[in-house]
Amino acid sequence: MDISQFVHQSNALADEIVALRRDFHRHPELGFQEHRTAGVVAEAMTDLDLEVHTGIAETGIVALMVGGKPGPTVLLRFDMDALPVQEETGAPYASTHDGVMHACGHDGHTAIGITVAKLLHEHRASLPGVVKFVFQPAEEGMGGAERMVAEGVLENPRPDYSLAMHLWNDKPRGWIGIKPGPIMAGAEMFEIVIRGKGGHGAAPHQAIDPVLAAAQITIALQSVVSRNVDPRKSAVVSVTQFQAGEAFNIIPSHAIIRGTIRTFTPEVRDLVLQRVEEVSRGVAKAMGCDTKIEITQLTPPVVNDHAVARMLKSLAESMFPEATIDTNEFTMGSEDMAFLMEGIPSAYLFVGSSDSSRNLDAPHHNPHFDFDEAVLPIASSLVAASAWRLLEAS
Ligand code: NI
Repeated sequence: MDISQFVHQSNALADEIVALRRDFHRHPELGFQEHRTAGVVAEAMTDLDLEVHTGIAETGIVALMVGGKPGPTVLLRFDMDALPVQEETGAPYASTHDGVMHACGHDGHTAIGITVAKLLHEHRASLPGVVKFVFQPAEEGMGGAERMVAEGVLENPRPDYSLAMHLWNDKPRGWIGIKPGPIMAGAEMFEIVIRGKGGHGAAPHQAIDPVLAAAQITIALQSVVSRNVDPRKSAVVSVTQFQAGEAFNIIPSHAIIRGTIRTFTPEVRDLVLQRVEEVSRGVAKAMGCDTKIEITQLTPPVVNDHAVARMLKSLAESMFPEATIDTNEFTMGSEDMAFLMEGIPSAYLFVGSSDSSRNLDAPHHNPHFDFDEAVLPIASSLVAASAWRLLEAS
């Protein structure tokens, strides 16, 4: 079939997509609590006669669309959760839930997912394979994807390809990011407990001061990226929490620092983890303190398959000749979509969604976040066509 049909078909659905998005936007739900959202999704999938599985990782949904022709399986993932942010957009469709807001665009993603199903359903008889729609809870740092994988989302059938997209307010509508290779960093969280010896603030010689040691460690950790990592590669070490002490005249017995590490490759990751430990222990020891270090992996990096990314780039170019297709955009942010991509040829696309002329360019997670809704049909047709292209290319 002529894949460009999806563009016209999607434009004809524009009002419906916007209405769906605004409904989700009015009713945002935090991770693992997306009951209303999941209800709307399940009903839409059932109406399209898909095989629907609900309650996966609490509120997750898997819906299978089996095409009229045999072929491989492509997994399409859409995240559904909102954030603990008090909305300040003043939009007529603003959140009706106090302190909860769709400040990352996942309302748009959910609406796009439903629309993609509608678009593909129209051509189901000639669809060459299976589309596995995954509506995921709790993407925002709560491990929704990992739980869905643990509950079998990558089996029956095992996807041959995985695909996801994110509306991207760093870039305007008309921009599409499809970078081959690593595009989002793997993330670790670390906690370093520094133990000294408590004492009187006026008698430091009788104490071992963990506050001073923790301060030195905080500074020394900044040498890991600047002095140890190859300057041509990317990494981040950020200390984001520093806790010590209860009173102005007491040297506390311990201090705690926490933070995050971001890397793209196993080599850089191993180096950074090793140096964070060595530097922390070494500096603490020099100051007479002991350390307990815990580093926990949150997500692996998101890495686009080169062949898949190239195929989707040329598809996007042919569908949207006016668009800017960027093959360089990447971020040190992380995404648990990585768990649904590991070992599977995959792609993660960014779709520019801002419009600064209408003040629709606040950053993600900001109380003023909103995007240009005209991007919704674009993204829907791009995802539907990408799924089709992957199925027919096999
Ligand atoms: Ni997001």
